[in-house]
Amino acid sequence: MKRKIINLVLAAVLLSTAACNPSAESRQSADNDTVGALLDSVSFTETIAGKETPLYTLKNSSGATAYLTNFGARLVGLWVPDKNGTLTDVVLGFDRASLYHNEDEPYFGPVVGPFGNRIAKGQFTLDGEQFTLPTNNGPNTLHGGTKGVHFVHWDVKSANDKVITFAYTLPDGQDGFPGPIHMEVTYSLSDNNELTLAYQATSDRKTVINLTSHAYFNLNGEGSGSILDHQLRLYADQYTPVDETLIPFGELADVKGTPFDFTSTKTIGADIDQESEQLTYGSGYDHNFVLNGTQVNGLNHAATVSGDQSGIVMDIYTEEPGIQFYSGNFMADRVTLKSGAKDSYRTGFCLEPQHFPDSPNQPNFPTTTLNPGDTYATKSVYKFTTK
Ligand code: GLA
Repeated sequence: MKRKIINLVLAAVLLSTAACNPSAESRQSADNDTVGALLDSVSFTETIAGKETPLYTLKNSSGATAYLTNFGARLVGLWVPDKNGTLTDVVLGFDRASLYHNEDEPYFGPVVGPFGNRIAKGQFTLDGEQFTLPTNNGPNTLHGGTKGVHFVHWDVKSANDKVITFAYTLPDGQDGFPGPIHMEVTYSLSDNNELTLAYQATSDRKTVINLTSHAYFNLNGEGSGSILDHQLRLYADQYTPVDETLIPFGELADVKGTPFDFTSTKTIGADIDQESEQLTYGSGYDHNFVLNGTQVNGLNHAATVSGDQSGIVMDIYTEEPGIQFYSGNFMADRVTLKSGAKDSYRTGFCLEPQHFPDSPNQPNFPTTTLNPGDTYATKSVYKFTTK
């Protein structure tokens, strides 16, 4: 009740600023019951490295709303209805743009690339030429290096209240990658609560590419506590075991009989404390699962996950061969989220559809090479329902 009153007051304040704020009309109205932090584009918008960093809004007929920004082509928040129809913010993020420009920022919601996930020892070879990248994760390169595509401003190529396309050209040699690489990501929100991310890339030089969204989810609502009681099913019979620096050995291992078996629904926490070298290396789950090809509408069904309190169910469908499941093991009360809560241990999880980690150095993994003249195109769909 108290929260409802606070939300109503907040909504009234936001409505009163609507006249001077172009995206305010597509925000929650005072009639909607809401769980989470309402975003205000006036206080969100700030300048990062000399460039304006506004808030963009997609909204569908049921009131579901996605908030995005150009810095890292980030998903800042995502409101979807829970089992009672209450709109709930299921994506972790900040209420001010500048908070994303921070080394303690644990990749909340950006597109990561040009190579999401790890490249061993910051090195790979293409046609005999060796490329060296900055290492930013122990001995390895994580999520494209220092700048990647998460710490840069993307251009807004086109936008309306259902679809937005961000574009960015990674200069040749940025973070050591051959390029330039021209990238686009289009977010669209359908009336049946599907958020689709469609990625495209072309390059002037032979290079590597592995783009994904690094959104953190809590389907009970951002800041509502642990994600360990969420129910998870992964459509994966195998995963790629890793060394202690989280680089795969190159082999695919069966999940059967291990804590990595999510082939039937179980809670994220069910086996997370089991004695397992792999769980020790990951400090929990931080592994790539090999999708088994279960098809829905021509896409790989990757995951079904639900919030134990909200009844919100998220299904992920993708053209990618794998999904990285990260159980928020490094979250450590370093930053304050939109809801006012801290990013406490395991209060968010990531499910990142992608190619396998370290693919440029792993001849047996599906290729991540992008040749000049070819177009990389891939999409992933996050569908929200309730139970
Ligand atoms: C990825 C990695 C994790 C961790 C997070 C960000 O998902 O696999 O190890 O680095 O990003 O904290």
